[in-house]
Amino acid sequence: MVTETDVLRALAHVIDPELQRSIVDLGMVRDLRVAAGKVTFTLALTILACPLRDQITTAAREAALALDGVQSVEIALGEMTAQDRAKLQGGQAQEGLAEKLNHVKHVIAVMSGKGGVGKSLITGLLAVSLRRSGYQVGVLDADITGPSIPKMFFPSGVRADSSPLAILPAETRTGIRVMSINLLLESEDQAVIWRGPLISGAIRQFWSEVLWGELDYLVVDLPPGTSDASLTVLQSLPMSGVILVTSPQDLSRMVVRKAAHMVAQVDVPLLGLVENMSYFVCPDTGKQHEIFGPSQAQNMADWLGVPLLGRLPLDPQIASLCDRGEIETYAENNFGAVAEQIVALAPGARKPVLPGT
Ligand SMILES: Nc1ncnc2c1ncn2[C@@H]1O[C@H](COP(=O)(O)OP(=O)(O)OP(=O)(O)O)[C@@H](O)[C@H]1O
Ligand SMILES: [Mg+2]
Repeated sequence: MVTETDVLRALAHVIDPELQRSIVDLGMVRDLRVAAGKVTFTLALTILACPLRDQITTAAREAALALDGVQSVEIALGEMTAQDRAKLQGGQAQEGLAEKLNHVKHVIAVMSGKGGVGKSLITGLLAVSLRRSGYQVGVLDADITGPSIPKMFFPSGVRADSSPLAILPAETRTGIRVMSINLLLESEDQAVIWRGPLISGAIRQFWSEVLWGELDYLVVDLPPGTSDASLTVLQSLPMSGVILVTSPQDLSRMVVRKAAHMVAQVDVPLLGLVENMSYFVCPDTGKQHEIFGPSQAQNMADWLGVPLLGRLPLDPQIASLCDRGEIETYAENNFGAVAEQIVALAPGARKPVLPGT
């Protein structure tokens, strides 16, 4: 007969990866019951949004199931009170601890030669498409002076949380993990007037101090052009590749070439080109109009020697969804094919699509 003590003894070997202590010592195991081979308990996480929660829950379940006589394990998730947490606050945020705990398969940056061509939108759509296909996805907003990612995903006023030892990304309604300077500021309207080294420092912290947990894809939204911030991302993050965004107005090959050059110089693969605002589909006639002139995209892609991943239409609906923090409800799937090609170039581990995503 398995007893509660047996189960507690087994669970004592399960270590919280962040705090490096046993979940039993930390007081996370509560309301433990064992009846007829069925184990039930509540796991009180330091914070419910903890990106490591699946990892801890799986380890706890396996430890209990390994006991002879245990047939099933039911774990309810709970959260510690502020008082409980305060008792654990022996630790200071440790530099690089989050980085050690993170497992990020692919880092993909979205770049352009100039501003306003739709990098942030494409970052957002790529994250949404990948998530819809069942991948674990994060978005790192590396545009420190002009952050626009949170506004696409959240109603205003959302802030990043922190666990005892690290910064936690905010989680969107479909489970995309997001970090942006705007999630750390007192007010979203606060301007960030920082010089290059501070900006680079913030970007590095978004990588090393943020608990991303397990991710198939971390999509990075870069600021426009070939600034310090972009260089920091390309040089200090383990990049899988870069996607270059242009628009039909982006006639200056020089600007695009500069961006492509920068990517080549730091030895990061250029995965391909996406042309945004390529055409407009008239809602009355269904006819495509190339309002900004004929597409240069294939031409440009051939010239750079990279694939043309896709052309996106100008769509007023997407602009208004982004303004309302509802990019995840965008029903058009005109970006799915781009995401699929990126997956083919940098494969992740697809998991079953979660309900509601
Ligand atoms: N295909 C599109 N259809 C409709 N609106 C779009 C499209 N692409 C971008 N927009 C809108 O254009 C504006 C600029 O896009 P976005 O912020 O993504 O560009 P960006 O390249 O990230 O700009 P920045 O260089 O300032 O970071 C946004 O308001 C966005 O919603
Ligand atoms: Mg942007």
